[in-house]
Amino acid sequence: MTVDITPFDLLRWYLDAGADEAIGEAAIDRFKAVSEVKREAPPPPPPAAKTAAPVSATAAHLADGCRTLADLKAAMEAFDGLPLTRTATTTVFADGNPEARLMVIGEAPGQEEDRAGRPFVGRSGILLNKMLASIGLERERDVYITNVLAWRPLENRKPAPDEVAVCLPFLVRHIELIDPAMILLLGGAAASAVLARNEGINRLRGQWHDFASPGLSHPVPVIASFHPAYLLRTPEAKRAAWKDLLMVKTRLDAKTP
Ligand code: URA
Repeated sequence: MTVDITPFDLLRWYLDAGADEAIGEAAIDRFKAVSEVKREAPPPPPPAAKTAAPVSATAAHLADGCRTLADLKAAMEAFDGLPLTRTATTTVFADGNPEARLMVIGEAPGQEEDRAGRPFVGRSGILLNKMLASIGLERERDVYITNVLAWRPLENRKPAPDEVAVCLPFLVRHIELIDPAMILLLGGAAASAVLARNEGINRLRGQWHDFASPGLSHPVPVIASFHPAYLLRTPEAKRAAWKDLLMVKTRLDAKTP
């Protein structure tokens, strides 16, 4: 018995099987196509101007030229090498006493800091002030505070690695100009940026590290601890943060950096 199959029958069969989209007029040998893709040379790297490195080089060049805190502040306020610099209301440079022995470094400004132009003025800042007071430190007198990023990331998201890379030369120059006796890093983003380590904050906190840089006459002792925003969400971590603060107090009291 012969069955007559018309082109319409075939189309119906394809439709029933789910093939309802015409891809091309001619048949494609997919096996050949795959082997040709495998033989193709790797795609060329993207043009250099589109990567973070040259922007970072610009920041490094600008930062290197800064001889004073005022120079650095002016250079950062004029910097437009990151989209964040255009969406932020202010450049959040620093707060506190530039002569203080303790430099505190957080992550990035939030909405309130962006409005005020000062780091740590929101809920995290209120807790930070209490933490400092608990070891006898007054924010305006005994501490100098800044952030890894001077510009607020929208939606309060974490700083992206390329944003940190771009801002790092400014931060390093900031540390060199302050030349603190010791540094307290708040949170994983600050810890991994300054210590150039990939481990999480749980691994990095609770011990002394060194921060060295060509512009410093000697390495600066650094300790990392939990970010106040994390402590607000995770009160059970306050016990460990308290231990870190006591390590800072002991070292400050000993007057040996
Ligand atoms: N969180 C930070 O890390 N820095 C601020 O300035 C405010 C909140």
